[in-house]
Amino acid sequence: MPRFDVTIAGELNLDLILYGLPERLEPERELLADRTMLTLGSSSAIVAHNLSALGSRVGFQSRIGDDPLGRISLERLQESGVDVSKVRVVPGATTTGLTVILHHEQWRNILTYAGTIAELTWDDLDLEYLADSRHFHFSSYYLQKSLRPQVAELFRYLKSKGLTISLDTNDDPEDRWEGGLHQLLRHVDVFLPNAREACKAAGTENLDEAIDRLSEMVPLLVVKLGRKGAVARKGTERFTAEAKEIVPVDTVGAGDSFDAGFLHEYVRGSDLATCLASGNRAGALSTMRPGGTEAFRDSAHRERFLREH
Ligand SMILES: Nc1ncnc2c1ncn2[C@@H]1O[C@H](COP(=O)(O)OP(=O)(O)O)[C@@H](O)[C@H]1O
Ligand SMILES: [Mg+2]
Repeated sequence: MPRFDVTIAGELNLDLILYGLPERLEPERELLADRTMLTLGSSSAIVAHNLSALGSRVGFQSRIGDDPLGRISLERLQESGVDVSKVRVVPGATTTGLTVILHHEQWRNILTYAGTIAELTWDDLDLEYLADSRHFHFSSYYLQKSLRPQVAELFRYLKSKGLTISLDTNDDPEDRWEGGLHQLLRHVDVFLPNAREACKAAGTENLDEAIDRLSEMVPLLVVKLGRKGAVARKGTERFTAEAKEIVPVDTVGAGDSFDAGFLHEYVRGSDLATCLASGNRAGALSTMRPGGTEAFRDSAHRERFLREH
């Protein structure tokens, strides 16, 4: 029996979210927010945190700086029960990354200082540790500048050790969607983009066409559709799953939480309908509190929500 259900190698940093700013951000003016939150951010860390909160055994590898933001991120992740013994704290000029989110009524600005995120390399990884698991998940492909050229090799190695692999690229800040993504998808068992990312990855503006193209590259494609839930394609079979009917407070990290909910069931061998329902439930739960992990951290709130849905 492997030590972990899921291992993850990726980024670990905080999100600083500002709410209630004016819609127009005028230069040189002092603009006031009415609420702020410093919370565990970054796709990889949110997936790890929330998987662990749901009861999966999670091992996490990352590289952070020797600075206060790094220490708080690590503490938060550890509190959820994730094994962080292999997170490397590296002193130096590059500090732990940070994402600042300016939250508006209908949209948000997402500003990221990548910091140590982009410096995670192959040499930081303990392959034996990552392989001691049923499944490996990788997020934020385009932020992992140093590791990216070797991600295909990493996937190949982990597959040879019997793990299944999932990928959520998240956005490409350069909006180019290159870097050998299509070749990489050949090693992926579950690809988890949102609708926009699916279109970008497939090189079309039509979602149905994107789903057709991507489903020829991966055995299981799951596309997140915000308040419309999710759609999955397994070969020619198509499955849809409605989102939970809730009034969201904040959708930061909903997609990563969906990944956590989906994978929590997937690694247990549950059927696709159960995996999708669990993804939608976790995505909805995440929207009930600011940030991507707050609704999962509060165990009473989490358990009540999961019971009711
Ligand atoms: N308004 C909402 N109501 C219910 N569920 C939601 C809502 N917004 C997001 N979700 C849940 O979170 C999941 C991921 O959200 P989505 O916005 O598609 O991903 P991402 O955060 O990656 O852009 C959805 O598939 C859904 O399950
Ligand atoms: Mg996402």
